[in-house]
Amino acid sequence: MKRICVIGSCNMDLFYNTNRIPKQGETVIGNSFSEACGGKGANQAIASAKLGGIVSFIGKIGNDIYGEKLLDNFKNNNVNINNLETCNKNTGLAIIGRCNNDNRIVIIPGANNEVTIDFIKKIEDKILEFDIIICQLEIPINSVEYIAKICKESNKIFILNPAPAQKLSKNLIENCTYIIPNEIEILEIFEEKNVEKILQEYPQKVILTNGNKGVEYCINNNIVNVPARKVEVQDTTGAGDTFIGAFAYAISNALEFNYAIEFANTAAALSVTKMGAQNGMPNLKQVEETKNEIDKKRR
Ligand code: RIB
Repeated sequence: MKRICVIGSCNMDLFYNTNRIPKQGETVIGNSFSEACGGKGANQAIASAKLGGIVSFIGKIGNDIYGEKLLDNFKNNNVNINNLETCNKNTGLAIIGRCNNDNRIVIIPGANNEVTIDFIKKIEDKILEFDIIICQLEIPINSVEYIAKICKESNKIFILNPAPAQKLSKNLIENCTYIIPNEIEILEIFEEKNVEKILQEYPQKVILTNGNKGVEYCINNNIVNVPARKVEVQDTTGAGDTFIGAFAYAISNALEFNYAIEFANTAAALSVTKMGAQNGMPNLKQVEETKNEIDKKRR
């Protein structure tokens, strides 16, 4: 099995539930508050590890109570954290509003901004021991660009989740093996605004996770739509991260591209049936059982 390394963010997620998001200048009364471990990088690492992947996480946390909780969480989920460093900034935070089965997220990067090029250069040799490297954009983009470049030079599989979205340079796009945006991000990261054209320009490279419309990509000049699995949605936070972690797990096991997407699509569907980004992430048995059931119904 190929080894996976996620280099990215870890946050403490602070959730509020409300029936209505306040308008500018308005105050509304919410329903509840909770905390959970999150951060796109950490979520993707844990999604892969829960499925049985061999996973390491590289990043930075603060020397505070949230940092300690995130450390314990990685350990409890069998993610290697030999290169997760503590620094003198606050641990990253995400303030997440849940409303009408969807979410809105504001992140305060804190320690995640300390995942600098200098830090990456210091551990470059260790990074290149892995086969599959995953990044998001919750750490400085110049670090991500550097990682993508060294991965390309060393023939590694480099997966980019361009979130939060910003325009990507031609070099960065070129150096990615897979780019996995959602329906909002895909329109921010490329000059081109026609989604079909983007998918056609980057066959088997850009994989669009399109919420309840499913997943879209281009293969052999055809745009394929893998419909979203029908499930009872509790919380969509982390669904995209589960997709990416599961996709990486599937390709780490040399599963064929189309199958890897179906597998990841099933894992992401299962993840939204529970509250919290990581809480609903499934194990391998759960994904396989659900996938078999659905495939049987289709026949
Ligand atoms: O993708 C969901 C994640 O985005 C949350 O866990 C939050 O930390 C933000 O990074």
